[in-house]
Amino acid sequence: MKTLIIRYEGKDSLIPAAEIIKNGGIVAFPTETVYGLGGNALDPSAASKIYAAKGRPSDNPLIVHLHKYENAGVYAHTTPLFFEIADAFMPGPITVILKKRSFIPDSVTGGLDTVGLRVPSNHIARELIELSGVPIAAPSANISGKPSPTSFDHVYHDLNGKVDAIIDGGSCDFGVESTIVKLEDKTIQLLRPGAVTVEMLSLFGDGLYVDPAVTEKFDGTPLAPGMKYRHYAPSTPLTVLDGSDKEVYSYLSDREDVGVICFDEDLPHINNAYVISCGSVSDTLTQAKMLFECLRKMDGRTDLKHIYARMPSKIGIGLAVFNRLIKAAGFSVVTLK
Ligand code: TXA
Ligand code: MG
Repeated sequence: MKTLIIRYEGKDSLIPAAEIIKNGGIVAFPTETVYGLGGNALDPSAASKIYAAKGRPSDNPLIVHLHKYENAGVYAHTTPLFFEIADAFMPGPITVILKKRSFIPDSVTGGLDTVGLRVPSNHIARELIELSGVPIAAPSANISGKPSPTSFDHVYHDLNGKVDAIIDGGSCDFGVESTIVKLEDKTIQLLRPGAVTVEMLSLFGDGLYVDPAVTEKFDGTPLAPGMKYRHYAPSTPLTVLDGSDKEVYSYLSDREDVGVICFDEDLPHINNAYVISCGSVSDTLTQAKMLFECLRKMDGRTDLKHIYARMPSKIGIGLAVFNRLIKAAGFSVVTLK
């Protein structure tokens, strides 16, 4: 398939992409979190094309992207807590799972009776949804199991030739996928951490429950089907190192042919490895933005036997960085204490 590459040059430049979506095709587009691969959420054949292009299991539901949260009631059974959360965080990097209306195709929701709704804040995503005139179902625009794409180059690498169009809209602001919450009466269940943090959400509802699949290897059924799959994984084995500066430097000192994802402050202290920093130790926003880029860079190196990454802080968006990193590592963590 020939993929149309669209460089964003104002809203009109998106008209061909919107036409593709209206006609049942699929388009990769930027959002403030990661790039998405979108199709008409009301067209089951568009969903099938998305699953095929990504190589994704079809029991893993797609998030439905809307232009306005005020329209959420058309697609799902909303609650007062939904509107409290939507007023606070939408448009923005959060997905809310609600009971779906029956006309949302099963192929979009993986057969579940719920649907994830998200209103992105990225203006290109918003203009595309508006011009298409339909809700857009979109997973992250990566090959299933690989790190999510945070730049046009990542999407081009994974999906050129497999999708109808890719919109080049620069790099993504947050770099980790949206926070996912499921609302049960007045309780908030956190299914995936993101830029809307636990600290922010704890001001809403009657309690916040963090799904065990967020922080540990979980043998049960996670609330978000996607959390059961090994994700974001580079081809070279990855291990997260949990220890002090001294412990980590000493652990790495006699290793050969390794890559290390570390913090800016570590750079002068690690000399025998291919080292990439994902930001300053306390700058969790930059770490989130850089994480998938770092994993992809490591993946591009065929000379590395093993990749190590330093354990990030779990505060704020740091919890999202931690969650993606331990999943990328297949939960391989070495505690040096
Ligand atoms: O930031 C994001 O959310 C990006 C951009 C493109 O919007 N999208 C994204 O989609 O990350 P995806 O498909 O890669 O991840 C969606 C996650 C999966 O783990 C899926 O299982 C879960 O959301 N999910 C979707 N609908 C669900 C539902 N109804 N119930 C439970 N989990 C759901
Ligand atoms: Mg994904």
